[in-house]
Amino acid sequence: MNALLETRLLTIRFGGLCAVDCCDLAIAPGQLFGLIGPNGAGKTTVFNMITGVYLPSEGTVHFDGRLINGRSPVQVARMGISRTFQNIRLFDELSVLENAMTGAHQHARINLFDSLLRTRRHHREEQRQRDKAYRLLQFMGLEDRAGLPAKALPYGHRRRLEIARALATEPKLLCLDEPAAGMNTGEKAELAVLIRRIRDELGVTVLLIEHDMKLVMGICEIIQVLEYGKTIARGTPAEIQRDPRVIAAYLGGA
Ligand SMILES: Nc1ncnc2c1ncn2[C@@H]1O[C@H](COP(=O)(O)OP(=O)(O)O)[C@@H](O)[C@H]1O
Ligand SMILES: [Mg+2]
Repeated sequence: MNALLETRLLTIRFGGLCAVDCCDLAIAPGQLFGLIGPNGAGKTTVFNMITGVYLPSEGTVHFDGRLINGRSPVQVARMGISRTFQNIRLFDELSVLENAMTGAHQHARINLFDSLLRTRRHHREEQRQRDKAYRLLQFMGLEDRAGLPAKALPYGHRRRLEIARALATEPKLLCLDEPAAGMNTGEKAELAVLIRRIRDELGVTVLLIEHDMKLVMGICEIIQVLEYGKTIARGTPAEIQRDPRVIAAYLGGA
């Protein structure tokens, strides 16, 4: 398989704790891939190693055919990996549109000189970013709220705004860390539709960490299960649901 993202024997230790132990992941282009496991299994830590936040103790991360271990989060983002956070990170005082634009900025075709002199190119570029951010707000169903401060959004919409901002970087791979956390049933169902559309209509490969089993089983094609940092199962939703180790992990843990 020509994976878009591939980790081999990815391992990280914090003192005596091996938080992620020899994790092999292989995500094909265009796949909707789920990463699940009880609290503390190491899921967020895997994201942090993929996105350059943590340096792995051992193992490799390849993205788009290139080794990316040791690159900074900014470099990894420029290569085409974008993420959201388990705890929402937005600029509360900025407007919804401005928050989405902070993602678009990364691809700005302006330099410091343009910004300082407020050149025509600067204005054109800012308009382009604004348009792109607005289109993503439309896609995420937030365009009516574009002018509100982010802090005025209800919780479910804040999560969606974080996704809009992550998409504004035009990623090849979008990593979502528990995007449905704190949402009600209706919001979760809408989110499931949106995640599928992100893949289908925007062509973005999705790596999804999520606790809500209905959501994960409903949209993911392949699921990998971690427990205490180790992979205990990998397969289709149907295979995962009847896997004895997975059932034991969930009944025993969480
Ligand atoms: N920076 C860190 N320092 C020490 N321990 C950490 C650090 N980050 C994560 N851990 C530990 O690694 C384990 C996995 O955490 P995490 O990846 O957040 O789990 P999950 O996202 O699956 O709930 C936990 O035991 C956690 O306490
Ligand atoms: Mg986590």
